[in-house]
Amino acid sequence: MCMNQENKNKKIAIIGHTKGIGKAISDLYKSKKYTVVGLSRSNGYDLATAQEKIMEQIEDCGLVVINAHDGKGQLNLLKRIYGRHHYDSMKVAVITSTSGTEQGKDSDIEDKEYVKYCGIKKELIEYIGELQEELVTKPLSVYDICPDVVDTDMIKGLWQDLPKLKTLEVAEAVRYCFESTFNINRIVIQKNAK
Ligand SMILES: NC(=O)c1ccc[n+]([C@@H]2O[C@H](COP(=O)([O-])OP(=O)(O)OC[C@H]3O[C@@H](n4cnc5c(N)ncnc54)[C@H](OP(=O)(O)O)[C@@H]3O)[C@@H](O)[C@H]2O)c1
Repeated sequence: MCMNQENKNKKIAIIGHTKGIGKAISDLYKSKKYTVVGLSRSNGYDLATAQEKIMEQIEDCGLVVINAHDGKGQLNLLKRIYGRHHYDSMKVAVITSTSGTEQGKDSDIEDKEYVKYCGIKKELIEYIGELQEELVTKPLSVYDICPDVVDTDMIKGLWQDLPKLKTLEVAEAVRYCFESTFNINRIVIQKNAK
């Protein structure tokens, strides 16, 4: 293995790395001696407005996590990565949500923002499914990491009665996909009541 290839495999880009799920993934991979390329609004990498800049940063990363949510930002970035990297052996984990599935969507909530969020995640999940069929013959891998409720700032004050996943548990699911020798198209994770 040449030096460049070795470096690439030990480099992970995380979109949305400063807190919540992204921070847990960052901490996990730092502990595994990876170079973490953290890309969030707070250091100038807004998923909604700075996609070209983000693409430049992920260029030599073997692992990429499209974690942060912002409108259609995740979907658009994934489309760009497919366009530019489908002949690379890059591994891409996308944090979707059970809110984008029939089983996980809370139909009682009529809040406009929530309904929009569910629709965006649904479209993302469907695109990943189509892409995975396409990728069977290509070296790029894409994993749909689909968590139910996770204990982060994003859901502060919501779903208070539900058991919640820990951010590290989501990070472990990401690691499991990245280290697997077979394709894991979608991993749905949920915490049950004790
Ligand atoms: N929490 C849950 O219950 C849950 C369940 C299922 C799926 N998810 C999904 O998991 C992902 C992460 O959620 P989380 O709960 O960990 O959120 P969080 O705790 O609010 O953290 C969001 C992270 O993303 C960054 N970020 C936010 N907007 C961004 C943007 N436009 N561009 C770049 N970075 C941005 C934030 O940093 P800056 O502020 O510096 O930008 C922060 O590091 C999201 O896709 C969410 O839909 C969450």
